[in-house]
Amino acid sequence: MLNKRIKEIILQNPSNEEIVVYGWVRTKRESKNFSFLEINDGSTIKNLQAVLENNIPNYESIMQKTTTGASVELKGVLVCSQGKNQSVELKVSSIKIIGEADPDQFPLQKKRHSFEYLREIAHLRPRTNTFGAVARLSNALSFAIHSFFQEKGFIYFHNPIITASDCEGAGEMFQVTTLPLENIPTNEGKIDYTKDFFGKKASLTVSGQLEGETYACALGNIYTFGPTFRAEHSNTTRHLAEFWMVEPEIAFCDLQGNMDIAEEFLKYIFKYILEKCPDDMDFFNTRIDNTVIANLQNIIKEDFARITYTDAVNELLKAKVDFEYPVQWGINLQAEHEKYITEIVYKKPVIVTDYPKDIKAFYMKLNDDNKTVRAMDVLVPRLGEIIGGSQREENYTKLVKRIEELKLEPKDYWWYLELRKFGTVPHSGFGLGFERVIQFVSGMQNIRDVIAYPRTFRSIDF
Ligand code: 4AD
Ligand code: MG
Repeated sequence: MLNKRIKEIILQNPSNEEIVVYGWVRTKRESKNFSFLEINDGSTIKNLQAVLENNIPNYESIMQKTTTGASVELKGVLVCSQGKNQSVELKVSSIKIIGEADPDQFPLQKKRHSFEYLREIAHLRPRTNTFGAVARLSNALSFAIHSFFQEKGFIYFHNPIITASDCEGAGEMFQVTTLPLENIPTNEGKIDYTKDFFGKKASLTVSGQLEGETYACALGNIYTFGPTFRAEHSNTTRHLAEFWMVEPEIAFCDLQGNMDIAEEFLKYIFKYILEKCPDDMDFFNTRIDNTVIANLQNIIKEDFARITYTDAVNELLKAKVDFEYPVQWGINLQAEHEKYITEIVYKKPVIVTDYPKDIKAFYMKLNDDNKTVRAMDVLVPRLGEIIGGSQREENYTKLVKRIEELKLEPKDYWWYLELRKFGTVPHSGFGLGFERVIQFVSGMQNIRDVIAYPRTFRSIDF
């Protein structure tokens, strides 16, 4: 049987029944006749207060070893607490140290540590309040994502991680190879991939979309939720080289329908978090950013703004702000532009559509103007882009033309093109960056602090 967790224990009434509690010591306060321990077991941000009187067996020798970070087994009964932070506390009758944590060596002492330092001890940081809260938030968000799509009858689809095609056509892929790097086989001056594990060039996926489309064009509505990899050299607070993406793909659906789903989806998961993670959200709101709860509450209530890229550029041109990247029609919107649109102009999430074709991927449906595509980015205050998506080009001839225009090889996408040959349908989808949502919901500044083991340009520890 599983042990009772502190999350449940602190909600119980005082009772004479003996209970057993397992956890790690967060702090100890000693006085002459008794000591207080704060015990945390990861089930909640809250600690269980344990009171030890000096008449328990081996009191002094045990208290010496009961230091911050040690794991313990406590037996005792729940009594009313005099303290203002909790209604019950554990009156301990016996304590066993399971694993000591030498105070001269254990790095997580009571003082506050910088997030930069905690990244260096990523194996221990889940034992802090912040990273415990991030982990529970991430768990709840994953569940909310699945419930949203499952309630709507979407089929969860596992896209391959190793792939032979570049979804975004941007060449930002990590290669997967077993070729000996110190002696790469060549044939007429070129790398001989026939000697490689798969017999051809292979990479880690940047997105499950292309394969997702094949399943949507058979099962109707699907979603993927898995790791994706980007070898981009962006060293920013919102880019990772390995991150998780949620990608729904919907058959018989245009951009309008796609925007509706994206908006409903974000509101659903935000509402879920506010309802299911009140203690952790309270922590983020008091310790990290005191606007997160109010912001989420407002977002749930209000409609997102919906504007075209051209409207967005016009807003930026009107702005009396010195942007680092000058604005003109055709540019890729930078984080500073996205923030201006959401924070200053609309003060809420904004869905920007119909971007110039030259700055978007080959698969997006071309508009009649021949200049823009049926793309949509969902931008949120503080962070900028959280979702990227589009209606897909379902016309065979137009799609081949786009692939060629972008100097990609139609033959590499033969199977993707066949969807447009056999029973083609209008379809749309989007990708939500999972860590960006956690960042947004928690108010955490750096994306490296919302994933357990961040991988970024020139940085991989652990
Ligand atoms: O806009 P992106 O590149 O879109 C796609 O990959 C499409 N294939 C999705 C689709 O239509 N099925 O990426 C989607 C989202 C972004 O909006 C962002 O939230 C996140 O993925 N993202 C990243 N998150 C962390 N680190 C990175 N390097 C990211 N790149 C994209
Ligand atoms: Mg994008």
